[in-house]
Amino acid sequence: MRTPVYTQFGRLLTRVALPSVALLATSTAAFASDPDPAPAVTYAKDIAPILQQNCQVCHQVGSIGPMSLMTYEEVRPWVDMIRVQIEAGDMPPYQYDRGVGIQDLKHDARLSLEQIATIGSWIDQGAPMGNPADLPAPVEFPGEAAFRLAAEFGQPDVIVRSTPYTVPANGQDLWWQPTVDVEGIPKDRCIRAIETKPAVGARRVTHHANSMWYTQNPTTGQWGQSGYLSEYSLGKLGEIIPVDACRMAPGGGKVNWDIHYYPNGEEVVDAQVEVGIWLYPEGFDPSTLYRQTLSLYRLQGGDYDIPPHGKLMTQGFHSFNHPVRVDSFQPHGHLRLTSMSLEVFDPQNGRREMVSMVSHWNPGWHNSHVYADDAAPLVPTGGVLIITGWYDNSENNRFSPDPDQWVGTGNRTGDEMSHAWLAITHLDDAGYQRILAARQAKNATRTRAD
Ligand code: HEC
Repeated sequence: MRTPVYTQFGRLLTRVALPSVALLATSTAAFASDPDPAPAVTYAKDIAPILQQNCQVCHQVGSIGPMSLMTYEEVRPWVDMIRVQIEAGDMPPYQYDRGVGIQDLKHDARLSLEQIATIGSWIDQGAPMGNPADLPAPVEFPGEAAFRLAAEFGQPDVIVRSTPYTVPANGQDLWWQPTVDVEGIPKDRCIRAIETKPAVGARRVTHHANSMWYTQNPTTGQWGQSGYLSEYSLGKLGEIIPVDACRMAPGGGKVNWDIHYYPNGEEVVDAQVEVGIWLYPEGFDPSTLYRQTLSLYRLQGGDYDIPPHGKLMTQGFHSFNHPVRVDSFQPHGHLRLTSMSLEVFDPQNGRREMVSMVSHWNPGWHNSHVYADDAAPLVPTGGVLIITGWYDNSENNRFSPDPDQWVGTGNRTGDEMSHAWLAITHLDDAGYQRILAARQAKNATRTRAD
């Protein structure tokens, strides 16, 4: 039996859902032996609820999806394309591998294998409507004006808005990268929660939006990026910082935006994106909390070149002189990156474990994978984080604009980049032991209950 050391996933792995073939076989069998000619899987009963929960936030008029998927009539012409997209893991746009590493994520946007199989057998049966009386009530989507975390925390303490930018009706994707001042955080403060969203009117053109802290070095006077603030893609709730951790909002900092706009048929005048920040009260004593940092961890310090039609793998190794908990993982690359993984190596016992694998990287979507509180990997002092990136510069890479090019590292989209953003809570031995003991106790209770 494996003893959980960093993670609890030795146990979770045994619970990974069955492969979809098995699920398909069951549903087809049920259909074949059913004396009732009514179809086993219908839009009204089975499919509409899945689309409501997982697709409609983007696929409705006025949102960013290229078509609306709100009614049977709207969905029907797209069924073949829907099958291709969901089976490939392209939709919903959240790239994270199943069956390997930690599967317990906050705001996990993936469909379950069961849902994918249900949609597949529905399409195999001719994608019938079924009985309209079975249709679920329409879902109310949160208004564009509302911060969703306001339900839990009230209005944000600070809102930082990007500089207005007019997005034309038609044309190529656009990137907008203004730097803006922050009002209301003159001194360092601990952050409780963060939520980014397009301002009213901008939702249907805001593909994704990232924001970074931009701070002045007190010694040199130089301004520079000092950490991630937040990332946005539609449908995602904000990020709630674990209650035992303080993520610092730097006093006197500015915010660098990196916004991907997506012209969508109608001009949007003065589009803006806003990030709401909830802070611990002024005067709050953070000394009882562990410091959480959200920083960039590089793969391979030096330079590299990917040859025309070639492939490459690079790695980065990072360790700490104290125990840490990894709270989130966000791969970053450009058009040639195809996969990135995060592993932990413990030199004390020679164990190496896969934490997260993203083998279907999509440069159009940037998701931070936030581990559930009880699943976030604990890394002992001296443990090594191993980040591995794989790149494909051949014609097999659907995103590669030109496989005849040599590709080096750089900031331009056509260059390659390799790093990961990790939110890390910096523990001490007492904190590490306490969290480990709490998890082991919980696991023991769960095992007894099973
Ligand atoms: C976060 C927003 C979002 C969610 C959630 C989402 N989509 Fe999409 N979808 C898009 C966008 C934007 C595109 C355009 C291509 C791109 O940007 O990747 C797209 C493209 C597609 C396409 C391809 C259309 C074409 O013409 O190529 C299909 C099919 C699709 N989505 C189906 C779905 C289904 C089914 C779901 C739910 C299971 C879903 N999407 C969830 C935003 C979303």
